[in-house]
Amino acid sequence: MNIVLFGPPGVGKGTQGERLASETGASHLAMGDILRAAVRDETEAGLQARAFMDAGKLVPDEVVVAMIEDKITGDGGFLLDGFPRNVAQAEALEVMLAGHDMTIDRIIFMDAPEKNLIDRLSGRLICRACGFGFHRHYSPPRETGCCDRCGGELYQREDDREDVIANRLHVYQEQTQPLLAYYQDKQGFRKLDASGEMDAVYAALTKAVKD
Ligand code: AP5
Ligand code: MG
Repeated sequence: MNIVLFGPPGVGKGTQGERLASETGASHLAMGDILRAAVRDETEAGLQARAFMDAGKLVPDEVVVAMIEDKITGDGGFLLDGFPRNVAQAEALEVMLAGHDMTIDRIIFMDAPEKNLIDRLSGRLICRACGFGFHRHYSPPRETGCCDRCGGELYQREDDREDVIANRLHVYQEQTQPLLAYYQDKQGFRKLDASGEMDAVYAALTKAVKD
């Protein structure tokens, strides 16, 4: 199955997408993770992307479209998290998939009130080694500062600072929110209330995928 997950920063795309992908065998293609790996490895795309990401702005479409095209294959299905993020990217995705004779089975819009988003982003911790996500209050690691899965060091993302969070939420409203109008009448569209606790959101997500 091919799934697009979209919604505001901090809504839980990465948390839920990772779980769903590991349980279904789909590839979890998280645009932010792909970009952060490129920044870390100082690839040409990473060098172009860095300043945009640090400021909480969208990386130019041609950069992200080229990066995601490399990752989409027909094997085992995919779960796109954080791409597309505007209408131009959604159109580019359609062209890309048509070229590979592939379609999107579900487009799932996750939403939650802004106070939940800020709360989730400001408490998020990520493992430097394996990328797994935690939260200071909602899913704390067993040992402070240390990943439960691999023992790696936990850090706070550069763009999870208060001022950058505010900018990301603004960019979301301006540039990503219009995707809702673009997608909501398409076949396979589902809207998900992601304001509850993680297991409840996951149950609603699996239902949205099956129904
Ligand atoms: P990206 O990394 O995709 O950031 P984002 O969209 O802002 O989303 P986040 O990853 O911050 O949130 P999430 O929804 O994955 O939440 P998570 O599950 O981690 O992108 C970063 C940057 O890259 C962008 O700003 C942009 O510069 C660039 N970029 C990426 N894609 C691009 C594109 N297509 N075009 C152009 N530029 C692009 O959860 C957050 C926290 O909350 C965690 O701590 C988690 O444990 C906790 N949590 C999750 N669910 C719950 C729950 N139900 N209850 C309580 N806590 C919860
Ligand atoms: Mg994410």
